[in-house]
Amino acid sequence: MISDDFIQELKYRNDIESVVSSYVALKRSGRTHSGVCPFHSEKTPSFHVYPETQSFYCFGCGAGGDVVTFIRKIENLDYLEALRLLAQRAGMAMPEDVRDDPTARLKTRILELNRCLARHYHQNLTAPGGEAGLAYLRGRGLSDKTIRRFGLGYAKNEWDDGTRFLRAQGFGEDEILAAAVASRGKKGGLYDQMRHRVIFPIIDLRGNVIGFGGRALDDHGPKYLNSSDTPVFKKSRNLFAMNFAKGSKEKGLVLAEGYMDVISIHQAGIDNAIATLGTSLTAEQSRLIAQYTDEVKICYDSDGAGQKATRRAIELFDQTGIKIKVVGIPDAKDPDEYIKRFGAQRFRLLLEGSSNSTEFEMARIKSNYDLETDEGKAGYLKELAGFLAGIRSPVERDVYISRAARETGVSKDRVDAQVAYSIAQKRRTSQKKEANALRPFAEESLGAEKSPEARKIELERRQNLRAAVAEDRLLTYLFKNPDGFEWIADKITPEQFVTGQNRRIAQAFYERLGGGLGLDMTALSAALAVEDMAHLSRLVNGAAGLNITRQEAEDCANALLQAGERQVDGEMSPEEIARRIQAKARRK
Ligand code: GTP
Ligand code: MN
Repeated sequence: MISDDFIQELKYRNDIESVVSSYVALKRSGRTHSGVCPFHSEKTPSFHVYPETQSFYCFGCGAGGDVVTFIRKIENLDYLEALRLLAQRAGMAMPEDVRDDPTARLKTRILELNRCLARHYHQNLTAPGGEAGLAYLRGRGLSDKTIRRFGLGYAKNEWDDGTRFLRAQGFGEDEILAAAVASRGKKGGLYDQMRHRVIFPIIDLRGNVIGFGGRALDDHGPKYLNSSDTPVFKKSRNLFAMNFAKGSKEKGLVLAEGYMDVISIHQAGIDNAIATLGTSLTAEQSRLIAQYTDEVKICYDSDGAGQKATRRAIELFDQTGIKIKVVGIPDAKDPDEYIKRFGAQRFRLLLEGSSNSTEFEMARIKSNYDLETDEGKAGYLKELAGFLAGIRSPVERDVYISRAARETGVSKDRVDAQVAYSIAQKRRTSQKKEANALRPFAEESLGAEKSPEARKIELERRQNLRAAVAEDRLLTYLFKNPDGFEWIADKITPEQFVTGQNRRIAQAFYERLGGGLGLDMTALSAALAVEDMAHLSRLVNGAAGLNITRQEAEDCANALLQAGERQVDGEMSPEEIARRIQAKARRK
């Protein structure tokens, strides 16, 4: 375990305000700082940093905790990795024993394995049995330089070429399976995930090979196959070629649909193109993109699916506030084909002439109506008004209102009136929505993506709402009045806390206070999961916990004990019975 001294030093040298500021633009307001939450999509800031308790809490999505929790969440790291990052940031050496952490070791091994395998795939291109791969890539117009730059490769048309290679390199079966590059067959042997496919290694921002995309060379299986998620790879939060694009001198980022599009665009000399990994854009990816650029050019396929995906992407990017452009691809199915047919120069012009997202949407709506007829015009204006009502800037709105008036030959005043009506209507619905959102617990489901674990916790709280609230108050009291530990511990044990989450928090409190240590967020984050830290942060920083008196705290403890007794009458699981016996024994 890591010593408390080390954690205290780490915390001292990584002030939460300065750590968070390198990810979030914070504004001072009174004793706290606020900004736009990096963990969910929002436009008005509900993310707060509390220097006094060295913690953060978002009132929009319920994310919260100390500086370590923040780093875990934003960098997608586990506890020890987060400590390591913060130690590095502060120029501190990690204590020795930490390197023996098994999860971190497995991750390192998977990354080594991926790198080895990527090299093997690449070498296959020029090895016997690999001719098909090289011929395919060249046939698609890729130069050797491009093939090398992207580290492209080929997985041979054999069951276990990759697995055999990895074994020879000293990787074990469990490592090969954990990296998801092979599966176990019916007869117990391992077979490669990628066979007879050209390989696109997926590389993260630190240059690690985290996964693979593979394109079939024949009709076996899906056209594209992507690594499934592993401890080092999460499809929904990585982007293909971001490692190159982030250092580009081009303006903004170009978001394409496929691996081949991205590679063609790069080969055409435009090195800021990226793509998602075989799935449609996620909210997480849109936020990631917004962290790196202030303008995105959506350059999807010209077919119906591509246009639908464009609209969805616009919706997601709209939430992040970055500038959105849409690049239409005339006379070709996708950027790759366009570049082949018309050349890099013309493609660049296409990018430069890209329309903004409003123009894209206006054109789309217009295509649904026949503007030669009066009904067509009326229908167009009505739908368009609904869309224009969503534009925040009055000046921008006015530009498009004028344009719509010109297009239809209807007077500008009439279009204006129609839009004003839509705005009023929108306001009414959003007020209703807001009122609903303020109901207890409902606020947490706003826009936030919840883990199964978080849902389980919420359900348990709902089923034991009275006890949960009493626990909340008692824990808040204890955090703020640690000298109350003696009488509280006398009255109630952690096992008597009813909800699992508060029980875990109580256990962590008791452990430290019982050992003569103080309570602070950073020390506690060693013992608590990310979800539990979020809850603790809400308790500690919320207004509800401001002035709890000792009398109230006692009432809460009594209420909890009663809740426990009432439950005894009902059915109990064997775990529950064991927990209670343990609790009794401790009290004696
Ligand atoms: P080429 O035919 O090689 O030019 O492919 P493309 O890049 O034009 O692919 P397409 O437009 O068919 O698909 C775009 C992207 O969607 C691909 O790059 C893949 O990431 C993904 N994709 C396509 N087909 C599949 C599939 O069968 N499974 C999965 N998971 N993803 C696919
Ligand atoms: Mn395509």
